[in-house]
Amino acid sequence: MDKERLKQTAAEKAVEEIQPGAIVGLGTGSTVYYVLLALGEKVRDGLNIIGIATSKQTEIISANQGIPLSTLAEHPVIDVTIDGADEIDPSLNLIKGGGGALVREKIIAHASKRLVIVADASKSVSVLGSTFALPVEVLQFGWEATQAAINIICDKSTMRNNGEKPYISDNGNYILDCRFDAIRQPAQVELQLNNLPGVVENGLFVNRADKAIIGTTSGVEIREKTR
Ligand code: A5P
Repeated sequence: MDKERLKQTAAEKAVEEIQPGAIVGLGTGSTVYYVLLALGEKVRDGLNIIGIATSKQTEIISANQGIPLSTLAEHPVIDVTIDGADEIDPSLNLIKGGGGALVREKIIAHASKRLVIVADASKSVSVLGSTFALPVEVLQFGWEATQAAINIICDKSTMRNNGEKPYISDNGNYILDCRFDAIRQPAQVELQLNNLPGVVENGLFVNRADKAIIGTTSGVEIREKTR
C-alpha cells in the first residue's frame, strides 16, 4: 500500500472520533487533507459541527469542502482536534511543524479536550529528533541572535526557505529547522527553546496527544495515551 493510502485510511478512521455538535480543531498537512475530505463529505451529508482551523491552508481547504468555520474567540474550548505529526514516539510525544503551522497547532491543541493524531507508519520513531529536524518559529527581528542561542541547544539549525526567500509563517515569522542527534528529554528541550528571547514556539508537543491513529500496511494501529 502506498503512503497516501495509509494516510487516507488513518484519516478516515479519525473522522469517526467526531460527534455531532462538536467543536473540532482542524490540523494542517497532507494527512489532515484526507481528514478534511472525509469530514466535508459527512458535513454535506448533514453532520453538524464547527471547525477551527490551524492554518490559512486548512481554512481554504475546509471552506472548499463546505465545513463551517469559526474562531477560538467564539469557541475557546474545542472538543477534539485532529492533526498530523512529523514524528511520534512511544509515549505519544510529537514533533510537529513540518507544514509550518506549529504555533497555531499548539494553541489549538492546548484549547482542546482531546488531541487525536493521524499519520502513516513512517512517522513512528523510538526517540524524537532521530529522523526529522525540529521546527522552531522565531521573530524576524534579531533572528540571527536567536539562531545563535538555539544552536547552543541543538546540533545545527537552518533557515526554512520558500524558493530563494525565507519561508514566512501564517504569523509573519521565520522558521528554523533544528537538527538533533536525538531528543531524549523532550519536555526539557521544549522549555529551554521557548525560554529564549525571539523564539515564538517550537514543534515539540509533549504530553499533549491523547490518541494516535496510524496507517500501517497491516491496517490501522490505534495508540492511546497511558495516564
Ligand atoms: C503542520 O505544521 C505539521 O505539524 C503537520 O501536521 C505535520 O508536518 C504532518 O504533516 P503531514 O501529514 O503532511 O506529514
